[in-house]
Order: sequence, then structure tokens, then C-alpha cells
Amino acid sequence: MGATATTTALDRFIRDARTVFSTHAEEEARWNALRPVLAALLSDPDVVEASHSWPDCRFVNNRIENLLFYEDPDYRFVINALVTSATGLKGATTTLIHDHGPIYTLFGVLDGHQQVQRYERLDDGTRPEHAELRKTFDSMCGPGDIDLVGPHEIHSDDTQGERSVAIIIRSECSENIAAGRYLPEKNACWQAPGPVQVRRAFY
Ligand SMILES: [Fe+2]
Repeated sequence: MGATATTTALDRFIRDARTVFSTHAEEEARWNALRPVLAALLSDPDVVEASHSWPDCRFVNNRIENLLFYEDPDYRFVINALVTSATGLKGATTTLIHDHGPIYTLFGVLDGHQQVQRYERLDDGTRPEHAELRKTFDSMCGPGDIDLVGPHEIHSDDTQGERSVAIIIRSECSENIAAGRYLPEKNACWQAPGPVQVRRAFY
């Protein structure tokens, strides 16, 4: 009797995501093709079970943490998670409204809920550190919901009173990529680097 090869949901995600990257060169088509691949990962009970031991992300020196599970050696996409405690992001002292600069992101809720808000910019962006925003979308997202965030799209995601886990697929590691932060009550904006990466095992 031969050994049976077993694959995990993470193995299957990486395999299928690499196929999408190799077959879709156009970014919008590529990231939409990744939606069902991420949906399969989010729907796996073993993944939900594994996430129960993932540590909460914190704010450290005004920077959010992301867990980092995988960085693809060929296509450069990364698998991150954002784990938010029931009391919100630990140590958060700054605005949660941001963009991701030039990268693409698929944000998928694995466990709990995330309040996702989207904004459009009303000014022309020519005044330094000045931005006028208008909220265009506000929805509570639950397990299996996926939000595709394109380059420079302004948004926020936060929890309300429960632990929440999101798996985030990014087109590249965002740790050193400058991206926008926004304080709409002051019409203020500035640039800051992306999340601090906390490497850990998925399972
Ligand atoms: Fe984001």
C-alpha cells in the first residue's frame, strides 16, 4: 500500500494562486481570478482552527503589524493575516483610514467580522498633506467575504467587540512601501510605510 500524498488548504492555495499568476498577466483579471482561490482557503475548517492560535496584531511605533506566512519566490505575492483582538488593534494611536500605495490586495474575512469602509477623494491631490474624503461604502463583512483593494484605493477595516481574523493576499510585501494615511476630520494626509511583518507558521 503506497503512501497517500496529502495537501493542506494552504498548499492548494499556493498552487492555485501560482497558476493564476502564470496565466493572467493583466492585473484586474488576475486579482479577480484569485477571488475563488482565496474563498476556498477561507472556507476550510482546518484554516479557521489554525487561526485560533494566531497572535493578535498590535500597533508598534504607529505601525500596524501583519502576520506573514508566505512570500512567493517567483511571483512575489505574499500571504498575510490581520488578527484583531475583541478590543480593537492593540495600541492603535493613529487613523485606520489608509491606502496601500501601488499594490493590489485581496482582503478576506476568515473569522469574526470586519467593518469595511471605503472613501473617495474630493480634492485633486495637489496640496501637500491635504485630502478631502467622502465615505462611499460602509458594510459589516463576515466569514468568506472578500474585498479587492486596488492601488491607492482609500479604505479602513476595523472590528467591533469581537476577535477577528482576515487573510490578506498582497501583490508584494508592503512593509517598505509608502502608502497614504488619512485623517478626514482634519482634511489631513501623509505617507507612511506598510505593516510590520511578523513571520510565523500557518499551521
Ligand atoms: Fe488596508
